[in-house]
Amino acid sequence: MKNIILIGFMGCGKSSLGRFLGRKGYHFVDTDDIIVQKENRSINDIFATDGEAYFRELETKVLKELCEQGEKNLVISVGGGLPVKEENRELLHELGKVVYLRTTVETLVKRLSGDKKRPLLQNGNIETRIRELMEQRKDIYEDVADIILDTDNRSFEMLYAYIRKAVR
Ligand code: S3P
Repeated sequence: MKNIILIGFMGCGKSSLGRFLGRKGYHFVDTDDIIVQKENRSINDIFATDGEAYFRELETKVLKELCEQGEKNLVISVGGGLPVKEENRELLHELGKVVYLRTTVETLVKRLSGDKKRPLLQNGNIETRIRELMEQRKDIYEDVADIILDTDNRSFEMLYAYIRKAVR
């Protein structure tokens, strides 16, 4: 099976859907998890100590390593900000089919309120912050995607059915 890459805003369900696909014959990997494991510290720590630019370098490194491994049959969930860097977008296409999980701001606000693990959402009003970042990113997500899936009110089974049809 071709690799599937799940992109989308924080809280859109990439990791949850990725784990679900992991039970359907794919091998699930998550770029944030790989980074945390390699660095042996949390994403909050990485941002606080070394800054966002350093974290973005780590993301590119992980993508390159995944490309070099040449493994198939992966479902790869990537951090919400990863596709913003052009170099990463090329690597995503090299890796497999890019699936954008599009989610409304209203749903994201509900899911992300009170979140403590995402450094980019810790300051200011959560809805304003999500709207700001979404405004910067939504065209990028749509442009890089091979497939766009609206996730609101759709079960993982439904999303899986769409993905299966689109990648075969
Ligand atoms: C980020 C998203 C996070 C994580 C980091 C930065 C972003 O991943 O990579 O906090 O810039 O959108 P999730 O999208 O898995 O939450």
